Amino acid sequence: MSLETDKIQEFITTIKQHAGYDFNDYSERSFARRIDRILVDSKLSMDDLIIKVKKDADFLEQTVKNITVNTTELFRDPEVWQSIRYRILPRYESQNVINIWHVGSSTGQEVYSMLILLNEMNLLDKAKVFATDLNTDVLEVAKKGEYKYRYNKEYLINFDKVIKENPYNYDEYNNVPYEDYITIDKNRDLFAMKPLLTKKPIFRKHDIITETNIFNTKFDIIFCRNVLIYFNSNLQNRLFEYFHNQLFKNGCLILGAHESMLGPITAKYRKKGSAYIKK
Ligand SMILES: C[S@@+](CC[C@H](N)C(=O)[O-])C[C@H]1O[C@@H](n2cnc3c(N)ncnc32)[C@H](O)[C@@H]1O
Repeated sequence: MSLETDKIQEFITTIKQHAGYDFNDYSERSFARRIDRILVDSKLSMDDLIIKVKKDADFLEQTVKNITVNTTELFRDPEVWQSIRYRILPRYESQNVINIWHVGSSTGQEVYSMLILLNEMNLLDKAKVFATDLNTDVLEVAKKGEYKYRYNKEYLINFDKVIKENPYNYDEYNNVPYEDYITIDKNRDLFAMKPLLTKKPIFRKHDIITETNIFNTKFDIIFCRNVLIYFNSNLQNRLFEYFHNQLFKNGCLILGAHESMLGPITAKYRKKGSAYIKK
């Protein structure tokens, strides 16, 4: 099914008028794919979908949740986490407080990966960790930190790579068992983060496009991984500018492994792998 651009625009305008979400600067192709999927699953026509979101606020909220892509994993792209551990976090070690914001945290695995790293570096107590997402369903999962074992067991390989190995010094091997952080119950298909981790972060609903910083602080590290790929380049650049303002000097923005900054905005940051340091 190929959707007409004017119908998609009408849908976007309706969502904006009725609930304030602004999808105008989402990447057109991935947005159209999500709408296609919603139409197939709901068995509605585009016209009926627009009528239904106008009339039914709960359906509108659910539709917005269905637009978002929530794929994530523990220590996603382990090389990035190795670099965060050995190249980025030491920059902030001597501070009394380290403020961290995960934008688009989804179900929380990215946040728990960071908390595990912080604990391994004895920095957990001085870290203030905030995490936000547009989608309240994923935030509820994130707060509990409970996942399906069958979908997450393979990420224990990532854990070993980041927590046990040091790619900058192959003589070093930290024999840290995952049981220090994760409870696994195969009979209940449970892969749960331990309370040491779940009690720490503050998870909040927040729309990075329409809302400003709700935390009343600047940050040392902002994660915004695999969120901007769904946005067009205008919006990406606006957010790079915005994150620059929300970072302390020498603060660091961490993007997804396949995301990068282009154009004049690059003059304001110094690139270090997947991390961009505010100049
Ligand atoms: C693919 S997930 C990335 C999760 C995690 N950062 C990672 O890299 O594994 C993208 C997340 O961004 C969220 N998102 C999309 N648009 C957003 C917006 N305008 N404001 C806040 N979060 C948004 C989605 O709900 C989704 O949970």
